[in-house]
Amino acid sequence: MNRASMIPLVLCVRSGASFASFRLETEPQRTVLDLLERLRADDERVPAYRHSCHHGSCGTCGAVISGLPSLMCLTTAADLSAPRPRRPGGPAVDPERDSGGAVIVTLEPLARMSVVSGIAVRPGPVFAGIPRDASYLAAADDSGRSPLPPDPAGARVGQGNVGSGHEGDSWRPIGRARFEACIECGLCVAACPVSLPFIGPAALAAVNRERQKRPERAAAMLAIAAAPDGVEPCGRFLACSRVCPQAVYPGKHIQLLRNVLADGQR
Ligand code: SF4
Ligand code: FES
Repeated sequence: MNRASMIPLVLCVRSGASFASFRLETEPQRTVLDLLERLRADDERVPAYRHSCHHGSCGTCGAVISGLPSLMCLTTAADLSAPRPRRPGGPAVDPERDSGGAVIVTLEPLARMSVVSGIAVRPGPVFAGIPRDASYLAAADDSGRSPLPPDPAGARVGQGNVGSGHEGDSWRPIGRARFEACIECGLCVAACPVSLPFIGPAALAAVNRERQKRPERAAAMLAIAAAPDGVEPCGRFLACSRVCPQAVYPGKHIQLLRNVLADGQR
């Protein structure tokens, strides 16, 4: 790597009431999670953090990165050295730099979650409102947003809600279902400015998806949405939809629930 393209950073990682700071130079494509892993290999001062998959699918590595709830495994040094919002929906602004020109990056735990240590949080209680027996297979009409490849000639179509099946000597896609997009990362919950008792955007998105997919459970899902901590406290700030890394658009689901509840009252 050409030295001129290296990016100098100062990572300031929350540790209780203070920050632990680390200065380093990195290639632009390195993610925040890559950098923490590299630092941790030989510096025991690195505060605790959570991660698993390293590719945006497990939802465990959320943190507030320089003001914006984000996944550490999808946020690169290049992202952080370019203009970027400091809050959901805010204008993109130049990064803060120290006197030596290094980009100052703050890492803090997601809001509304109990901190275990460093920036590692315990997210479980935040998702208490998600129906535990909800189906995690999306309805077929969702396939247009993220289509599977077309079935090859002769593949068995419609043999259950699975994404692949064995056909001869090769694995081929069958059917059109896909799994729900939400990875339960909690970024939407951390970004939401509503502080009243509120089951939150991720739970309400799950409630609406369950209502859409399983008509026999619609009444139960609408009862959750109509409760005092359901859709009513939402102030339509849309911070949830802006930070969601999976394009779930929780704000859209909350509005759909509102519409259905209003129709039922007419
Ligand atoms: S709705 Fe989006 S931001 Fe919220 S938990 Fe699911 S994936 Fe994360
Ligand atoms: S480590 Fe799995 S989403 Fe980031």
